[in-house]
Amino acid sequence: MLEEMKMEGIEELLQARYAGAENNRTFVRGREGLRDKREALPNTLETLLGHRSVRAFTASPLSEGTLEWLVAAAQSAANSANQQTWSVVAVQDEARKQRLSVLAGNQAHIREAPLFLAWLVDLSRLRRLSERAQSPGEGLDYLETFLVGVVDAALAAQNAVTAAEALGLGTVYIGGLRNRPTEVAEELALPHSTFAVFGLCVGHPDPARPTAIKPRLPQSSVLFREQYRSGSIEEEIDSYDAVMNAFYASQRQPAKLWSQVAVDRIASVASLRGRDRLREALAKLGFPLR
Ligand SMILES: Cc1cc2nc3c(=O)[nH]c(=O)nc-3n(C[C@H](O)[C@H](O)[C@H](O)COP(=O)(O)O)c2cc1C
Repeated sequence: MLEEMKMEGIEELLQARYAGAENNRTFVRGREGLRDKREALPNTLETLLGHRSVRAFTASPLSEGTLEWLVAAAQSAANSANQQTWSVVAVQDEARKQRLSVLAGNQAHIREAPLFLAWLVDLSRLRRLSERAQSPGEGLDYLETFLVGVVDAALAAQNAVTAAEALGLGTVYIGGLRNRPTEVAEELALPHSTFAVFGLCVGHPDPARPTAIKPRLPQSSVLFREQYRSGSIEEEIDSYDAVMNAFYASQRQPAKLWSQVAVDRIASVASLRGRDRLREALAKLGFPLR
């Protein structure tokens, strides 16, 4: 009875979110699938604290309606002034995933995951609205509006990640999608004023290749009260390096210092893996970033 009430609650929420417009059959069938799972769903804090990136997936496909649920969760995120400046391209075609995996630094998990989501900063809709309204749309060319799109795409994607994890799926973000942005845009047939800001692999985690929760810095490193305090960070970093070393060992990964890896990622232009040319690529894609 309680489950039934919760389900009705979800249906009312969907009705409100899409003002009754979202009634496609896949989505409705997916809703039935969710009904069976509801008892096992963890609470939100458990889902958030239990996060770990998953890079090893089984071959099983996602159940029907999963994509639509993830997008409903994504669209439920807050977004700047409700301008809805993001879109997402769902890629399931094996050959396209293969090509994208190469463009994103040859990451095998993109091929392995049944679903790859390319999250877009999408100012093309607003540009078309401006043209229709015969408005100059000058704000579209500024860094600020680009940032709005990046922030909103990230918030939306993270909602999708939380929803996927609550449903027992695994995900990993793919920043490598920014290595070769114009080729990615071509592969996804993106219009002017759209940019694939990162990707996301989604699938069933392979139980034979499990992953663990990765420890983070202590809160004292990241949480400041009232004002930022730039004191010494030596001790905290040394002890986090030790924590991470033990973590890598537990995961049978080679010993490395977290602080050194972090420094290496930003040490040289080459370590940006092609993303040092992002500004030029963005200009070509329709983002002058004034
Ligand atoms: C925007 C973004 C881009 C990322 N890009 C990649 C990537 O290209 N490949 C990859 O294997 N992991 C990628 N990750 C995953 C991070 O490495 C991972 O989140 C981080 O090491 C923390 O581990 P955890 O997610 O398991 O807690 C990315 C994460 C974010 C948020």
